[in-house]
Amino acid sequence: MNLLTAQAPIRVPRSGKGLALGIWRFLVVALVLMLSLGFTQLAVAQAEPDREMRTAAPSISADQWRQVRSGETDANFRDSRFDSNYNLINSSGETWRQLRNRWVSPFGLIAIGGMIAVIALFYFIVGRKRLDEPRTGRKLFRWSLLMRSLHWTVATLFITLALTGLNLLFGKFVFRTLFGDAVWAWMISASKVLHNYLGPIFGVLLVVLLISLLKDNIPKKHDWVWFKKGGGLVGKGHVDAGFANGGEKAWYWLLASVGLIVVASGFVLDFPNYGQGRDTMQWANIIHAIGALGLTAVSIGHIYIGTLGTEGSIEGMTTGYVDETWAKEHHNLWYEEVKDQAMSEEEMAAQKTGSNSGGASATKPS
Ligand code: HEM
Repeated sequence: MNLLTAQAPIRVPRSGKGLALGIWRFLVVALVLMLSLGFTQLAVAQAEPDREMRTAAPSISADQWRQVRSGETDANFRDSRFDSNYNLINSSGETWRQLRNRWVSPFGLIAIGGMIAVIALFYFIVGRKRLDEPRTGRKLFRWSLLMRSLHWTVATLFITLALTGLNLLFGKFVFRTLFGDAVWAWMISASKVLHNYLGPIFGVLLVVLLISLLKDNIPKKHDWVWFKKGGGLVGKGHVDAGFANGGEKAWYWLLASVGLIVVASGFVLDFPNYGQGRDTMQWANIIHAIGALGLTAVSIGHIYIGTLGTEGSIEGMTTGYVDETWAKEHHNLWYEEVKDQAMSEEEMAAQKTGSNSGGASATKPS
């Protein structure tokens, strides 16, 4: 017999089995007792609704509740969970509620709905901005793979945050009535978790995107002319623009100002464990909502211009390359700097083969 592996069969002693059975019996009886107590309490509470309040706060009179609600501070009615001056009932909470429901929510609906309506009207009246000249078929390198990946990651996060944020603000009026409480409860808790966790990731990546694009977005004199001439979106004329035009720079600086305020206020809301009080949280919520709703409205304009609105723009952000004609018509000053690097499809294919076989032409145009 192998002494190392041989084991005597494990036997549960009779008394052990009895003990386990005893514990189970005890647990079942305790559970039944607890449940019956719970049901009795529920029945009593339904029969006598004030009883619970009298038990929870036996010596508080109606006058005292009125005093607490008035917002006056006094040693007797402070919330002992905080060492600040908060009252047991925070009256400014009602002001926050009014601001949020009466002003911020309607503002969001007007801004986003208004933007969609204006864009739809613009599209049906003026239509798509097509290229004036035919494409040359020669391509200019515009966005690196890294910048495209960064842009699409930030864009996806932004859209997810916008949709979950809108659900937090307006979802109950639509989905709760449509799908009922159970589905709605799942939807709102999923929205909250996504919003809370994706927010900080978006914040960090937005900062990286803004730093990478800073050099091309410094305002120049010709950007003012671009704005004065409406960006050339209407009519035939072209207006001067470098790598980024006036509109793109405006979007950039909006993200660099309002975007960062939204991120900062989001951090205040996401991490209440740093000692910020209720008033700070309330203000952070109002600032966050106004900024985020405004940005969402403007982002719809950006998405329209990048896709349906302007022929050829989306190609740069998907393939990395734009047609020479597009560059000449939309970013003429940039075109003048890089026009020598334009390549035909064949030259691009040859360059790709060269880079795949480790040839000398592996360098990408800058
Ligand atoms: C589906 C949604 C989106 C589409 C289709 C889209 C499309 C585009 C396109 C085509 C460009 C390049 C324009 C050019 O080459 O000049 C661009 C640039 C850019 N996009 Fe988007 N975009 C989207 C969402 C977003 C979002 C949500 C953000 C930010 C939160 C964003 C931020 C930017 C920035 C900062 C630039 C660079 C502009 C500059 O140079 O200043 N995009 N986008």
